[in-house]
Amino acid sequence: MSTDDSGKGLKGTVAGTSSICWIDGAAGVLAYRGIDIHELAEHSNFEETTYLLWFGVLPTASQLADFSKELAFARALNWRIYEFLRNVPTDATPMEVLRTAVSLLSLYDPDEKDSSHDANVRKSYRLTSQIAMIVAIFDRIRKGKTIVDPDRGLSHSANFLRMLTGTKPSETAVRALDVALILQADHELNASTFAARVIASTLSDMHSAITGAIAALKGPLHGGANAETMKLLFAIDEAGADPVEYVREMLAQKKKISGFGHRVYITEDPRATHLRKMSEDLGRSAGQSKWFDMSRKIELFVNQEKKLNANVDFYSASTYTTLGVEIDLFTPIFAMSRIAGWTAHVIEQLDDNRLIRPRAEYIGPPYPEPYIPIAER
Ligand SMILES: CC(C)(COP(=O)(O)OP(=O)(O)OC[C@H]1O[C@@H](n2cnc3c(N)ncnc32)[C@H](O)[C@@H]1OP(=O)(O)O)[C@@H](O)C(=O)NCCC(=O)NCCS
Repeated sequence: MSTDDSGKGLKGTVAGTSSICWIDGAAGVLAYRGIDIHELAEHSNFEETTYLLWFGVLPTASQLADFSKELAFARALNWRIYEFLRNVPTDATPMEVLRTAVSLLSLYDPDEKDSSHDANVRKSYRLTSQIAMIVAIFDRIRKGKTIVDPDRGLSHSANFLRMLTGTKPSETAVRALDVALILQADHELNASTFAARVIASTLSDMHSAITGAIAALKGPLHGGANAETMKLLFAIDEAGADPVEYVREMLAQKKKISGFGHRVYITEDPRATHLRKMSEDLGRSAGQSKWFDMSRKIELFVNQEKKLNANVDFYSASTYTTLGVEIDLFTPIFAMSRIAGWTAHVIEQLDDNRLIRPRAEYIGPPYPEPYIPIAER
């Protein structure tokens, strides 16, 4: 029986090759197709970053215009998806609804039976646009508001915010969302992307892989951490507690603080650097820096006490709240972003496929155990 659990959870295991995303966990570097995330966050937009992830290079101006047009053209849902969204239980969470809706989308996708490279690219356009639509439409339905039709003249982020809120979003809000989508678009073999690649490797299909990825993202150890972070900030606020004392008590009770720690980064998560600044800037310009200030106090304390750094989820919580986004939409917005990476990975997997089927180290009863007849047990 092995007592060494250093590889538990596949920690440190290299499970395959990929040319999409590179992480240096010690130096705090994240790059898509070799381009540093800081450069992309500063200069790129979600459409261009998605093009980079899918096609491996930055687009020319005309390629980007065509790509953006194609993505906007894909803003369409079969009427049965609207019916589904109208008929789900009112207490369903947006992540449950998104997971089920994406599975349903496959039944109405014109390329459902085609898993060729080109069909997978076509499905990627559709899924990227449709996931954003589903998140916005379901939120309006559950609030009893009228559905806002997509506007194909707007960027991906602007269209989403308009469909969600019913009003034309400010440039600041569009840019903030766009940067958040860029930062979360891919992250190598994180749990949900790995799940997608495992499913794709069985020669299942794109929609099945993405449904599985959404299911994996939903958990609080993965994409659900941003919502858990905000629940913590709300709880501290409601209790009128001191953030540091509150978190100190949680740590004393051996509780994990959502938004801290990472499997790969041993230094600052480079995405957190941007989200911290964004959270601060948005908070100050909205005259509502309460959530940022509280987050910063917690960050400094957890860093000092546990040597743990804030991850991508920690400051996305206060950022989204300042943008007026509801807590249970945080993880669906993460999915809206990560769909760019998931689809890139599924395409890459299927372009050079081999079944992903690892082995387990057996730690059960030694072989051969006798079969004891039931009367003798
Ligand atoms: C991200 C995460 C799942 C990585 O998990 P992992 O690599 O398996 O690391 P572990 O959970 O084994 O943590 C290692 C140690 O650090 C501690 N630790 C890790 N994250 C912690 C956190 N957020 N709060 C408090 N302690 C934490 C663990 O308790 C453990 O301590 P121990 O060795 O004394 O038992 C983990 O850090 C975590 O649960 N974070 C909170 C959830 C979160 O923010 N997820 C989003 C990730 S982007």
